[in-house]
Amino acid sequence: MIRIIDLPKILDERGNLSIIEEGNQIPFKIKRVYWVYDVPGGELRGSHALKSTEEFIVALSGSFDVILNDGNRNRKYSLNRSYYGIYIPSMTWRTLKNFSTNSLAVVLASKEYDEKEYIRDFDYFLKLKK
Ligand code: TYD
Repeated sequence: MIRIIDLPKILDERGNLSIIEEGNQIPFKIKRVYWVYDVPGGELRGSHALKSTEEFIVALSGSFDVILNDGNRNRKYSLNRSYYGIYIPSMTWRTLKNFSTNSLAVVLASKEYDEKEYIRDFDYFLKLKK
């Protein structure tokens, strides 16, 4: 189920700290971590679904919107804090947009990179979801 997951937050006058532990906050084993940065204003990222890979995205810096479609409707999640993230189940269409200057999106994934995991045709995605 698509959901926002709050992360532990250790508040400290010396600076705050948040945590992700495999099998604790995140409902999958972390196989891969990647990040998206230096996104020019107005650019879109994503616009695909993954067949069996689950992901969890955190805005470590700045802000951006994650638009998710589960086959029924679009929902927009604005990420702008480093102490929560969005859990994206497999077979969810996602688009990331409205990146602020210097935003940094970190993505935890349940599988290693495999181009065969990608569905890049939205109509085909909808057909599979029926
Ligand atoms: P893509 O997943 O399409 O980017 P986004 O969803 O952020 O728009 O990946 C862009 C390119 O990077 C594509 O050619 C594949 C490559 N890539 C890897 O080699 N390994 C990875 O783990 C990822 C996520 C992408």
